[in-house]
Amino acid sequence: MAISKKMEERMKNSSWIRKMFEIGNDYRKKYGSEAVFDFTLGNPTIEPPVAFKKELMAVAAKTDKGVHRYMSNNGLFSTRKAAAAALNKHLKQEISPDNLVMTTGAAGALNIVLNSILDSGNEVIIISPFFPEYKFYIENNGGKTIVVESKDDFSLDLKAIAAVLNGSTKAIILNSPNNPAGVIYSETSLKLLQELLEKHSDRGYSEVFVISDEPYRKLVYDNIKLPQNLDIFKNSIMCYSHSKDLGIPGERIGYAAVAPSIDDGSQLLAALNFANRTLGFVNASAFMQRVIENLQEVSVEVSGYQQKRDLFYDNLVSYGYEITKPSGAFYLLVKSPLRVYYHFCQLLLEEKILAVPGRGFGRKGYFRLSYCLEQKTIERSLQGFKNCIEKL
Ligand SMILES: Cc1ncc(COP(=O)(O)O)c(C=O)c1O
Repeated sequence: MAISKKMEERMKNSSWIRKMFEIGNDYRKKYGSEAVFDFTLGNPTIEPPVAFKKELMAVAAKTDKGVHRYMSNNGLFSTRKAAAAALNKHLKQEISPDNLVMTTGAAGALNIVLNSILDSGNEVIIISPFFPEYKFYIENNGGKTIVVESKDDFSLDLKAIAAVLNGSTKAIILNSPNNPAGVIYSETSLKLLQELLEKHSDRGYSEVFVISDEPYRKLVYDNIKLPQNLDIFKNSIMCYSHSKDLGIPGERIGYAAVAPSIDDGSQLLAALNFANRTLGFVNASAFMQRVIENLQEVSVEVSGYQQKRDLFYDNLVSYGYEITKPSGAFYLLVKSPLRVYYHFCQLLLEEKILAVPGRGFGRKGYFRLSYCLEQKTIERSLQGFKNCIEKL
């Protein structure tokens, strides 16, 4: 039986993921997992905080009746209340629990948002380098992806964004701290983007939604204050997740938060609830909603990630690699010392180092290293990176 042409095409276009996965498995079998340095996945090997495990046990031990039933599609009020209160500590405006919809991670949030706002052929701007799944999520919901390159230092290129805005633009997705570059867009550039979007609607075009994908919101280094997109953008929707801040990506829990400043917010929220139901998520895991309710101020140790960033970044730069220092998340986007990354990749493979080609993130000539691994794995890999540069 044949699968759809569309799916066949999509799978072919993301074959590099499968390829890296297969090489990783093959190498582990051949050389043993200790000898392989797999920097491909953003899947934290660090265990969740102790508080998460405690809460998990406490919720499991409760004997209240009816806790495993279906619920409103937007999730438990008490969880939304706790999440809104935590958000409000950072926001100038006050967001109500009713502006939140609990979701199956940021991926679930992005899909219900796009499903709620897109008509066929509507355009969604994404900034390269980008999280590769955006293209699929946009296509899932009938939209058309418009890629705009960021500048060489991965900051926003407002002129390039202005150049693609038109009557079909429905939304722009921002991801800061960014996967794969770890960049945090500056408050100044975000405010200028809001001005640009206002001018666009003043010209008579429909208003553009800003979808702010923030799963790395708590993984911010060097005491940087993360600009609050819910405050900056009138038409913003934030997609959040506990995958990274609690190190629980397998548990699939997050939320979408609609800015109070958005026009017709209640209609949008009704659409998000409906999309949660009709995309088949129905509601986010009842159990996980209860578990994260009291963990809104808890996160994995951010200083530990910062130490890893410093260790990895400082050493690679000292060997001659070109990297824009990341300010958040847990990735390094490294410029390939050979113009064609495929050739450099062969050298990395000789050292049993696995990295993801930048091409998948819309940035050719780079490779991404994910450092959500044990520090000793990073330390042991360093000689291999040095050898690669020395061979050139
Ligand atoms: C930028 C970005 N957005 C969304 C997601 C999806 O996160 P979740 O596990 O919460 O669905 C990821 C996961 O790696 C990501 O890096």
